[in-house]
Amino acid sequence: MAVIALQGVRGGAGATSLTAALAWALNRLGEQVITVDLSADNLLRMHFNMPVGQSRGWLRAAFDGLPWQQSALRYAPGLDFIPAGRVNDDERMTFIRDPERYSRSWATQIAELKKLYPWILLDVPAGDTPWTRAMLALADRVLAIVVPDANCHIRLHQQTFPHNSLFLLNQFSPVSKAQQDLHQLWVNSLRNFIPLTIHRDEAMAEALLNKQPLGEYRPHCLAAEGMTTFANWALINLREKS
Ligand SMILES: Nc1ncnc2c1ncn2[C@@H]1O[C@H](COP(=O)(O)OP(=O)(O)O)[C@@H](O)[C@H]1O
Ligand SMILES: [Mg+2]
Repeated sequence: MAVIALQGVRGGAGATSLTAALAWALNRLGEQVITVDLSADNLLRMHFNMPVGQSRGWLRAAFDGLPWQQSALRYAPGLDFIPAGRVNDDERMTFIRDPERYSRSWATQIAELKKLYPWILLDVPAGDTPWTRAMLALADRVLAIVVPDANCHIRLHQQTFPHNSLFLLNQFSPVSKAQQDLHQLWVNSLRNFIPLTIHRDEAMAEALLNKQPLGEYRPHCLAAEGMTTFANWALINLREKS
């Protein structure tokens, strides 16, 4: 089994969209997958058609004193997700101030999920905080999502990344000369740069508007083909070899 954390090198890189898209692509290849939304923003669920008014989720359950397992939902056979759940402003602050309380429970919860799912995908919010550090530490591998722009390029030089990070390029537009150059530079200079790219594709934006994972919304678009290739790469390179 594999616990894979996806985190953007910056916000908006596409970590949440790729978590849903990868879950769908792996599931199409016959894998049992669960995704977990580890951001209080509670957006991952929207890729899995959850009604916007539904408050269910692991963080909501923690505040209500309910078992976290009850927050899991099934999107398709072998494809489950755990939303964060809706919290009010005070609850959000409580969560931000005392992340350790929740990170300790996740260490146990991941161990329980490992008994049931060969693939556990963690959608981790961008940023280096006690919460994100604790969540990344639970993963076997971290997929650091980069987009080919100056912002990410600077961050790649200024920030440190967990030793088990792999860089995945998203929102690549090969028509842009600047992006071609950054792509070449990263291929040649970044250790652990995954030799596959996910293109910038209108279908990715539309998929969220349609509340579906990318591959379900438009299976043969460029980005979905890229995701399927990446899922196959993940089966070979990321699955724990037992
Ligand atoms: N490859 C892509 N092509 C086009 N739009 C994308 C792509 N990846 C992500 N997006 C869009 O970018 C926005 C931010 O994506 P999101 O997954 O929420 O980022 P993050 O979780 O890293 O903050 C969303 O509106 C999403 O539809
Ligand atoms: Mg996100």
